[in-house]
Amino acid sequence: MIHQKRRHALLNQLDNNAVVIVSTNPEQNRSGDVNYPFRVHSDFYYLTGFQEPESLAVFSKDNYTIFLRPKDKAREIWDGKRLGIDDAPKILKSNHAFPIDLLKQKLPQIIFNNQVYFDAKICQLDNDITHLLSNHQLKSLAPTLHEMRLIKDTLEISTLQKAVNISTKAHQLAMQAIQPNLFEFEVQSIFDGHFSKNNAQHAYMPIVAGGKNACVLHYIENNKKLNKGDLVLIDAGAEVDCYASDITRTFPVSGQFSRAQKQIYQIVLDAQINAINAIKPGVKINEPHKIATKIIKQGLINLGILEINGNLSQFYMHGTGHWLGLDVHDVGQYKKNGNHRKFIAGMITTVEPGIYIRKDGKINPIYHNIGVRIEDDVLVTTSGNTVLTKSLAKEINDIESLMSQ
Ligand code: GLY
Ligand code: MN
Ligand code: MN
Repeated sequence: MIHQKRRHALLNQLDNNAVVIVSTNPEQNRSGDVNYPFRVHSDFYYLTGFQEPESLAVFSKDNYTIFLRPKDKAREIWDGKRLGIDDAPKILKSNHAFPIDLLKQKLPQIIFNNQVYFDAKICQLDNDITHLLSNHQLKSLAPTLHEMRLIKDTLEISTLQKAVNISTKAHQLAMQAIQPNLFEFEVQSIFDGHFSKNNAQHAYMPIVAGGKNACVLHYIENNKKLNKGDLVLIDAGAEVDCYASDITRTFPVSGQFSRAQKQIYQIVLDAQINAINAIKPGVKINEPHKIATKIIKQGLINLGILEINGNLSQFYMHGTGHWLGLDVHDVGQYKKNGNHRKFIAGMITTVEPGIYIRKDGKINPIYHNIGVRIEDDVLVTTSGNTVLTKSLAKEINDIESLMSQ
């Protein structure tokens, strides 16, 4: 029912004679006969709830047609059950269902003088559709659909919270298991195992970065030994029913922060907490970044790491957050008419400031190779915000006490 509601809500914002076409992702080959695990396209999933490859939905105010793979006894022995043409209308609440192979024949029969909304991805199916519709003026669906996806409904919030809960538990397990001489991949295996046990996937390639590896923002090799005295940065989040969580914690391999590590960590934590506290409806969405950069800049100046007129991007070179939802970097505009927009209840954003200090002769060596990021997932509510990831320790004392248990 929720998908039907979403289709109607979308159509209500489009031209009266609109017909929407939305297809799923193509399958991706990994090597030889083996594909990557299939991941449905987020727009398609949002509007249909259907997760089989080679699927396409076409809907208007008075018709909903789904194209999908027909049942195939031989293929189902290899690849598993298919919904099939006969059951699709009942299960997916469509008026019609056709085999995807009949697309060329059927699509022109469904679309008449309609205004067609369609965004082609780079894949054969979408090329075929574009070709079939060469006589139509196409409009982009994305601006309207992605604005809808930006404001989460209650089912989306509760699903994302499930993903968060699985992730926070895995982060806790990792904090309690970590010790010097473990390899980063051994720590990753805690997340792999806990996510699998809970029927969840990784929402993105996890980062387990010991010591200086934390200064490589997209470090995913996860194959080095964790050294006593170093910090480890873990950025890992589960995906549940296609909804992503995105969480980072940084903590000491041997359970206790050094003085220098505490100094850097506390700056990031202050920046993060103050950035989160600013989030509420009506506040501009770049406010958390403004607050975080100001605190980080002053903190680094106080420690003699950054000169008063120095360039902060040497130590903090990414944004403070992004939308979160069906995609880990979720859809939705950040600006309107060139200006940062304002928070609205129902948006979910990450808040993830960091400091990354590479080896540099001009910087006191006690700070070399320290990389810290703290990342939480925050829901904007009518009265302010809720930190969905709040159960996961991030104060220095709380981390040290959890690690000693
Ligand atoms: N894990 C991806 C990100 O933090 O944006
Ligand atoms: Mn993030
Ligand atoms: Mn992250």
